[in-house]
Amino acid sequence: MYNYQIVYIKNYYERLSMRLLITNELIYKWTAYYLCKKITLAHKNSNKPFVLGLPTGSTPLGVYKELIKLYKNGQLSFTNVVTFNMDEYVGLSKEHPQSYNYYMHHHFFDHVDIDRKNVHILNGKAKNLEKECLQFEKKIADCGGIDIMLGGVGVDGHIAFNEPGSSLSSLTRIKTLNHSTIVANSRFFDNDISKTPYLALTMGIQTILNAREIIILAAGTQKSLAVHQAIEGGISSMCPITALQMHNKAVIVCDKLATHELKVKTIDYFEDIIDEYSDMLKYVKNI
Ligand code: GLP
Repeated sequence: MYNYQIVYIKNYYERLSMRLLITNELIYKWTAYYLCKKITLAHKNSNKPFVLGLPTGSTPLGVYKELIKLYKNGQLSFTNVVTFNMDEYVGLSKEHPQSYNYYMHHHFFDHVDIDRKNVHILNGKAKNLEKECLQFEKKIADCGGIDIMLGGVGVDGHIAFNEPGSSLSSLTRIKTLNHSTIVANSRFFDNDISKTPYLALTMGIQTILNAREIIILAAGTQKSLAVHQAIEGGISSMCPITALQMHNKAVIVCDKLATHELKVKTIDYFEDIIDEYSDMLKYVKNI
């Protein structure tokens, strides 16, 4: 039998590597409560705003719903939060219902007390797209860097719009989307790939790695190969999520289905770890 303290200290050192947290159906609640804890603590301890990197996609929707609930219950405020969204389509105005700008306001910002001047979303209609990307990086730096970067993952392991083959040292830039991403995204554009944007502005892999902490959400069997590569594969630009292995505080939060390609011993290993992530899981299981 381990002594709890010893396990905790041991895992403090083990945490200088990538972590997998299997939360099953609590994936959204866990993430929202974890963010709530970090934002609230930061507010108590410092005047510096808490800087959050945010994603779009279907997976984060559950997290936004839980965060809105926390706000409405009076448990969380976003007045000290500054946000930077990961990516945006090129060519869509912010009023376009499929733009990421519209998505963020519709699903999240319009329902919480965040100051609109603290919201940063790349402008895919900017006259000078390169300048837009450079300024975005500068704004992140001016805010002192991202505290927590929340993200999802594509079936092929892409993060934000960093497609397979993206440089692991890339910063915010214009990116041509690959065919499978365009096909996946066409579900939001009448299933018509000719209507689906093929260019995007995206944070780079290095921009994401520069965050002090990274949380990636993965739900469903379709993400299980990406999760397997991320945890058990080697670092490769052909599977951008594997770059997280170079980060010292990155966690993939997933459900059981997303672990289907992992070895049993890998799952057992991560399930035995006791740390602030597993403590939060215990907490959300009881509420
Ligand atoms: C798009 C977004 C990514 C997101 C991915 C998966 O490519 N740019 O940020 O992670 O979709 O989205 P979903 O959660 O819908 O599977």
